[in-house]
Amino acid sequence: MSAGQSPVQLGILLSGRGSNFLAIAESIRAGRLKGAEIAVVISNVAEAAGLKAAQELGLANAVLVSKGRKRAEHDADVIACLKAHGVDLVCLAGYMRLLSPEFVAAFRNRILNIHPALLPAFPGLDAQEQAFEYGVKVTGCTVHFVDEDLDHGVIVVQRAIPVLESDDAHSLADRILAEEHVAYTEAIARVVSGEYEIRGRRFVRISGADTAEDRASAII
Ligand code: GRF
Repeated sequence: MSAGQSPVQLGILLSGRGSNFLAIAESIRAGRLKGAEIAVVISNVAEAAGLKAAQELGLANAVLVSKGRKRAEHDADVIACLKAHGVDLVCLAGYMRLLSPEFVAAFRNRILNIHPALLPAFPGLDAQEQAFEYGVKVTGCTVHFVDEDLDHGVIVVQRAIPVLESDDAHSLADRILAEEHVAYTEAIARVVSGEYEIRGRRFVRISGADTAEDRASAII
C-alpha cells in the first residue's frame, strides 16, 4: 500500500460489539490515523452492535448474513461489496468467520486481523482465557496480515501487558482490549504509510531505526 494523495479506503468486517471498529473510527476522527478513511462496514450478523454503531455514525454499511451459506459463496458477496466501495485494506474487527482462500487471494497482504494474545501463542477462540489458564505472566494482542491459516499471517504490531496477581480472565481480557484499541490504529498507520517490506515472515519498517519511544513502550 502506498501513501498516495487519496486516502486508503478501509473496509471493516465485524460480527459483534465493534469496539475495535469504533477505536479505528475515533482515531481517524481525531486525526491520529492520517491517510485512511472508512469506506464501508460489513457485518455478517444482522444484530451486531458494531453495525448499529456504524449506522449511527453515518458510515456506509452492509449486512451480508453468513449463517447457512457456503463459505465461498458468502465470501464472493463480501468481496464484491468491498470492491464496490473501492476498499484497499480490509480490517477484521471481531469478524467471527474464517475467510476462504479465494478471499485471502483477492486481498493478498491487504487484510488485517486483531487477535487477543501474543501469537503464535494461543490462536483460536477464547485466547485471553487460554492464556490466563495456561498461567503465562505476559500476554497481549497481535495485529497481523491474514493468510490461509488461522491466526497465522505476518505480524505487524504486538502490544504486551503483564498478567497481574489480581487478574481473572475477565479483567485480563478488558486490559488486553484497551491495548487492542491502540494496536489496531498503529498497525493500520504502518500499513497505510507503505513504508515497509515483508521479508519472509517479518514485517520490516523501511523508515529504519527504532525511536526512544519504541524502546520504552510495550509496542513491539
Ligand atoms: C477482540 O477481542 C478481538 O481481538 C477479537 O474479537 C474481539 C472483538 O471485539 N478478534 P470488538 O467487537 O472489536 O469489541
